[in-house]
Amino acid sequence: MLQETLRQGQTITDAALDRLIPKETQQPVSIHKAMRHSVFAGGKRLRPILCMEAGRMIAGSLPGGIEELGAAIEMLHTYSLIHDDLPALDNDDLRRGRPTCHKVFGEALAILAGDALQTQAYEVLARLACSPEARVRIIEEIARGTGTVDGMIGGQVVDLEAEHTQPTAEMLEYIHRAKTSALITASLVSGGLYAGASNRDVEKLRAFGKSIGLAFQIVDDVLDVTQTSEQLGKTAGKDTAAQKATYPALFGIEESVRKADALVQSAFTELDRFGERAGTLKELAKFLIERKK
Ligand code: IPE
Ligand code: IPE
Ligand code: MG
Ligand code: MG
Ligand code: MG
Repeated sequence: MLQETLRQGQTITDAALDRLIPKETQQPVSIHKAMRHSVFAGGKRLRPILCMEAGRMIAGSLPGGIEELGAAIEMLHTYSLIHDDLPALDNDDLRRGRPTCHKVFGEALAILAGDALQTQAYEVLARLACSPEARVRIIEEIARGTGTVDGMIGGQVVDLEAEHTQPTAEMLEYIHRAKTSALITASLVSGGLYAGASNRDVEKLRAFGKSIGLAFQIVDDVLDVTQTSEQLGKTAGKDTAAQKATYPALFGIEESVRKADALVQSAFTELDRFGERAGTLKELAKFLIERKK
């Protein structure tokens, strides 16, 4: 069941991405090759899947065209990965089992490929097939989730500034909530908005997203310590080497896993009002912390 949700979600998302990102033959070909190199390198597509399943839960079936919203979110996520890997940020050589964008295309094109995926995402969002009111709210949610105030960029800034320091638990939680949980939360909320969620539904999806998004980044930190580069498709052990502020560094592996688990358990209660329809989102939340890559 879960495997089927993941497989179908990945297939639908990949088809939309292929349709929405200019072909490699489109001029200037170098930028489109760079964008596609990073997008079609085998990401898990978890944010689009959470977005689509939130929409399905609210509407009772998968709302038509929601895969374009999922694809736009995946473009933004991939842009954040390309920039995260740049020499000026985490300086990583391996991503999604491939050499990173800047390793293949050079830094200038990698910076521009990230920028281009961001602008492409907003072009797609502007054309979403939902009500104009929902469209505007979705764009605002996603822009905030990736922005500087409690959003992805803000989190990346504090993540970089916290290297080689001994962060407090509060600062570490802030970094993880902002750099990762904010976009995961926006994925769930925007999927709900697309499907016509009420304000109360939206707030429940937001609370659920905040908890599972934090759990997701805690597990990302744990996997960096416990898995190999081959298993992850990205360089293992990077966080320790770069003296990153991580949950395992502050709390140890066992306590980090326990915290991620507790966050997901508490997130479940946020979905009580949706009854059995919340089954798939709950399964996905469990998968987020049980995943091995
Ligand atoms: C990696 O995200 C970056 C983080 C925010 C932890 P994912 O683990 O979802 O990476 P992909 O998309 O599957 O490559
Ligand atoms: C990245 O966190 C979060 C982003 C916003 C991209 P990490 O730096 O831990 O992500 P990985 O481990 O390189 O995927
Ligand atoms: Mg980073
Ligand atoms: Mg990184
Ligand atoms: Mg990491």
